Amino acid sequence: MDKLVITGGQRLDGAIQISGAKNAALPILAASLLTAGTLEISNLPTLRDVGTMLRLLERMGTRIERGNERVTLKADAIGSLEAAYDLVKTMRASILVLGPMLARFGEARVSLPGGCAIGQRPVDQHIKGLQAMGATITVEQGYLLARTERAGGRLKGARIVTDMVTVTGTENLMMAATLAEGATTIENAAREPEIVDLAEVLIAMGAHIRGAGTDRIVVEGVENLHGASHAVMPDRIETGTFLCAAAATVSRHGGEVIVQGARPRTLDAVLDKLREAGVALECDVDSIRVRANGHALVGANVRTSEYPAFPTDMQAQFMALDCIAEGTNHVIETIFENRFMHVQELSRLGASIEIEGNTAIVKGVARLSGATVMATDLRASAGLVIAALVAEGETTIDRIYHLDRGYQAMEAKLTALGATIRRVAE
Ligand code: UD1
Repeated sequence: MDKLVITGGQRLDGAIQISGAKNAALPILAASLLTAGTLEISNLPTLRDVGTMLRLLERMGTRIERGNERVTLKADAIGSLEAAYDLVKTMRASILVLGPMLARFGEARVSLPGGCAIGQRPVDQHIKGLQAMGATITVEQGYLLARTERAGGRLKGARIVTDMVTVTGTENLMMAATLAEGATTIENAAREPEIVDLAEVLIAMGAHIRGAGTDRIVVEGVENLHGASHAVMPDRIETGTFLCAAAATVSRHGGEVIVQGARPRTLDAVLDKLREAGVALECDVDSIRVRANGHALVGANVRTSEYPAFPTDMQAQFMALDCIAEGTNHVIETIFENRFMHVQELSRLGASIEIEGNTAIVKGVARLSGATVMATDLRASAGLVIAALVAEGETTIDRIYHLDRGYQAMEAKLTALGATIRRVAE
């Protein structure tokens, strides 16, 4: 398993380029199952999760041609309607093939994802929505078996009110509805920008969708979809992660970092919190500059919630900032019940954090010091990288395969800014 070794205390200076969004790319790739036409995707991030989704689609019979940050997919000869456990267990987002397969072929067999480091994360809302559209879904040998009423028949439009706001649930149901008979309304829909990006692809493929980006999405089903081209939106979580890294190092060691190819308007809550924490930011249409302003970080209280509020996927990274800011701040996690596993690792670096229920009380400290820590999930790992960049001495982060799931070339991007960071293969 690879490790990252980071020598903290370096000043970061320069520009970095943001890659395509993982959480937009995954549903968009799954959408290729909705048509026999060719889907051309560009700005595709090079990530382990993207590789897993492509392998899953390839196993089903999708023809895939990969280029540099682009891919063409043609699902005109699908031979298997199964997503097997060995791939699903490494990536929960594999569930995103369920809606498209069922909608186009009237049948699907998808492994249940099983446990997950950051909580239970059930898929009951995906199931409930598809059942409302006329699907019969049973669980056999750990697999969801889904069928339309008539073998190979179409789903039927329905009015669906989800019990809670779910991102991949909304995406699965929106994709399924594109090929259903009649209209589907998804109430309580997630409003994440990645849903809007997916809707743009589906509309380019011939789908009739209104309201993506609001909590009420209406889809008029059509009989067929066709091929299309699309560039994946920039990754707002990667953007926020580099902003936190820059904020931490600039406040301690000076320097100036420009994050380019970003979409600042998808990051309002994160930018607001960074400003509240005392970070000097300058936003342009597609770039954000972080520079020293002579003041210490003061940190900020954050409460994660659904978009457009502060994202749970930025919680660990922001907590790393609060660890080195003046004063005491509260970080409240409302989306996942077990998403504080980075706390004990940050404590190993000298952070002062107490957990009470879903609240982490973070008392800023003057210095962190390097140690060996373990990455426990994707965003937790990113939080550890940020802390390591300002810790004194050397920090070794073990199990960084988590990081490779969601960050394209993170150590190369940080090295280009001046960080001392190397990957050690074992
Ligand atoms: C997506 C993101 C993930 C992000 C999360 C929340 C992708 C590929 N992943 O995950 O990075 O952290 O949104 O912003 O886009 N829930 C249920 N039943 C369901 C579905 C969800 O109880 O059927 C619960 C979950 O356990 C969780 C909450 O709803 O507590 C939100 O989960 P959800 O939005 O579905 O997360 P994902 O789509 O899995």
